[in-house]
Amino acid sequence: MDNRPIGFLDSGVGGLTVVRELMRQLPYENIVYVGDSARAPYGPRPAEQIREYTWELVNFLVTKNVKMIVFACNTATAVAWEEVKEALDIPVLGVILPGSSAAIKSTTKGHVGVIGTPMTVTSDIYRQKIQLLAPAVEVISLACPKFVPIVESNEIQSSVAKKVVYETLAPLVGKVDTLVLGCTHYPLLRPIIQNVMGPSVKLIDSGAECVRDISVLLNYFEINSSRYQEKVRHYFYTTASPEIFQEIASVWLKQKINVEHVTL
Ligand code: DGL
Repeated sequence: MDNRPIGFLDSGVGGLTVVRELMRQLPYENIVYVGDSARAPYGPRPAEQIREYTWELVNFLVTKNVKMIVFACNTATAVAWEEVKEALDIPVLGVILPGSSAAIKSTTKGHVGVIGTPMTVTSDIYRQKIQLLAPAVEVISLACPKFVPIVESNEIQSSVAKKVVYETLAPLVGKVDTLVLGCTHYPLLRPIIQNVMGPSVKLIDSGAECVRDISVLLNYFEINSSRYQEKVRHYFYTTASPEIFQEIASVWLKQKINVEHVTL
């Protein structure tokens, strides 16, 4: 047993999609979450800058005495996960391998689409990971740079959101049987994405898939939190406005959370 928190990092609010699934599957785990909304989106930034920002988030989580770090961000995973994993002596998990495995399991015709930030798509990492395991699967990737700003500004219900998603995804419609949401912000747009792609396309939530891996690692290292601890604690930090973060989080997590501002 180990009641230390699990640390989550993201460029902003996207990692909440991972946290929601964690709270559902592993309700006794304590959480420290840090989102860098002041500098989001990370996706269009150069790799070196994303690497530097990611290390700042990692170092912040390390000061919180976390037992594991989850990169709840595909972009940070694509750029810095391997390096951080090698450098730390606690388990560090990313979202890309779980997303890739789930896509392979899901595809029926071998036509997988991947949507992500410009960095995730340019890195080509999903195609590489999927084809390493299943070379016959065809992967079409598409960058969706307009999606993250819509989510960060809490405009997911707007008509602009519908129009942008519809126009951006048009090149993929009818071409894939499975679509990986290769950015943890995208599940917040899931109903619109599903509507555009059609009901027969299976959507893969890379963040939610990673919770299964978290669970496996907790069991393997025997570091689950005790169900008998006095209180389960969730701490959320943002580099931007705690109010906007809280608004998005309370709808998404269906509970009121405390959010503090942090300067990295
Ligand atoms: N949630 C991040 C991801 O999964 C979004 C990155 C961004 O800020 O552009 O890629």
